[in-house]
Amino acid sequence: MKLPWNDPLSNKFATTIGLITSTGPVGQNIMACEWTHHISYDPGLISISLGFSKATVKNIRESKEFGVNLCATDQSILSSIAGGYSGINYDKIGALKELGFQFYDASKINTLMVKGASLNVECKLFQEVTFGDHIMFVGEAINAAYNPEKQSLIYHDGKYWSLQTLVKPGQEERELMLKILERYKK
Ligand SMILES: Cc1cc2nc3c(=O)[nH]c(=O)nc-3n(C[C@H](O)[C@H](O)[C@H](O)COP(=O)(O)O)c2cc1C
Repeated sequence: MKLPWNDPLSNKFATTIGLITSTGPVGQNIMACEWTHHISYDPGLISISLGFSKATVKNIRESKEFGVNLCATDQSILSSIAGGYSGINYDKIGALKELGFQFYDASKINTLMVKGASLNVECKLFQEVTFGDHIMFVGEAINAAYNPEKQSLIYHDGKYWSLQTLVKPGQEERELMLKILERYKK
């Protein structure tokens, strides 16, 4: 079966938004990628899944590197521009700079990184695998920094959200959980 884009089934997932920066035949570019996932601690690996037609695919295939910048709650405009227009037709970085967003040079790879993101990770391409209608690029983290003052923007149901902490089960509930689990011990 299919799990199509913007379908109520697909929209039940909630993700952060990776702002993927790259440099290559398309020039300096940025795209929004909800399918950005941390998949290994040691080595630190991050996967991004991109549709075949994305300009970012051309850049990564040639440069073998990319930046992962997690979009912060005050950067939804950045996400909408990076995710709504292709670097094939638009200089998104130029437009974003004019809108007041700032970028800085990565220290270990040849690409721009997003200032004010909640997390910035410079990645070297580790592996490329095609799954269905998307190409998964796995990047190895070679330099990373986080911004303690920023929260990651959340994407769910085609809308932007911010996180809210919920109370974890209390002592009494934990004791009850354990008591029941003990009866199901293998
Ligand atoms: C919030 C958001 C999340 C997105 N997530 C993805 C994604 O995970 N994978 C993907 O291929 N495209 C995703 N897109 C669409 C791309 O960002 C969009 O097609 C963009 O124009 C590609 O840029 P490029 O052609 O310059 O690489 C997303 C768009 C938005 C707005």
